[in-house]
Amino acid sequence: MAVLVTGGAGYIGSHMVLALRDRGETVVVLDDLSTGLQDLLLPDVPFVQGDIGDDAVLDRIFAAHDIDAVIHFAARIVVPDSLADPLGYYDNNTIKAHRLISASVRHGIKRFIFSSTAAVYGETDCQPVHETSALNPISPYGRSKLMVEWMLRDAAAAHGIAALALRYFNVAGADPLGRAGQSGRNATHLIKVAVETALGLRPHMTLFGTDYPTRDGTCIRDYVHVSDLIAAHLCALDFLLHKPQGFSVYNCAYGQGASVLEVIDSVKRISGVDFTVRQAGRRAGDPASIIANGESLRRDLGWQPRHDSLDEMVRHALMWERKRSNLQPYEPDR
Ligand code: UFG
Repeated sequence: MAVLVTGGAGYIGSHMVLALRDRGETVVVLDDLSTGLQDLLLPDVPFVQGDIGDDAVLDRIFAAHDIDAVIHFAARIVVPDSLADPLGYYDNNTIKAHRLISASVRHGIKRFIFSSTAAVYGETDCQPVHETSALNPISPYGRSKLMVEWMLRDAAAAHGIAALALRYFNVAGADPLGRAGQSGRNATHLIKVAVETALGLRPHMTLFGTDYPTRDGTCIRDYVHVSDLIAAHLCALDFLLHKPQGFSVYNCAYGQGASVLEVIDSVKRISGVDFTVRQAGRRAGDPASIIANGESLRRDLGWQPRHDSLDEMVRHALMWERKRSNLQPYEPDR
């Protein structure tokens, strides 16, 4: 099978490319390298540097490669950033996704997997959230992704496509074999920031909000290991092979929550460094708590997560950060 991976030079996309290659699939990567990194690309995987909203680039790729499925990761992903630049987020995440879906329809692509997000649920009293829970995104980021789910559902029905959206919760960790990890500059995600602080790459970190109605006053999130998330995409591809058409949506997470303080404790314990944490007010756009019901993914797609421990995610994130920063030798898992 030949798969077009958009955003294949990014954090999650680069893990996807490795997993597809490990399975012997043919892969083509489209990435504009705005946040992705050239050195995460594999030399033997065809790479096109370009924009997912550029019809000419898309037509060229679909004409040159006999693509069976598209896995669409390329997007802007930082919730506070989306509040500052909503139109940029709608352009990049929604309008350009429309161009990509349109090109896929034009070229007769029958399978499409979309990276959606837990941010489509927004602030919710219903915990854990089920795929059928109310959708009330509270950030432009969440809304920019929800609109793509809707477009894809309608396009799948009209054009005989088998499409699937995975709603990611908080993705963390790195490839257990040390081949890829989170590498972007100016990281804002909690585990990455805490790991950088533990390794002395930042003088301190900030904890946003200690007055939430949660067990310790800090926000609760359902962290999912990037390797398990990628395994869910492989299950999704297999599922779509046997599904003639239609749209499905699945939560991707473990159904367990960790607070910001619990994450910081884990990073301190595993790194052995008692780094400085400064308390600040709430960050705009943060829901207090969001935990997934991930049962449907296990039941319908046969997803079997293997890394559902916060400490393991932190250990792999530390391992990758040490390697990237040339800090000290590291030992990947065998
Ligand atoms: N946080 C800090 N300090 C930091 C970074 C984060 O206290 O330096 C806190 C945040 O305020 C939040 C929690 O850690 O309470 C998690 O924040 P992240 O930035 O790591 O992740 P988000 O929850 O904002 O966003 C993630 C994904 C989105 C997804 C969302 C769903 O990046 O794609 O979870 O809740 F939509």
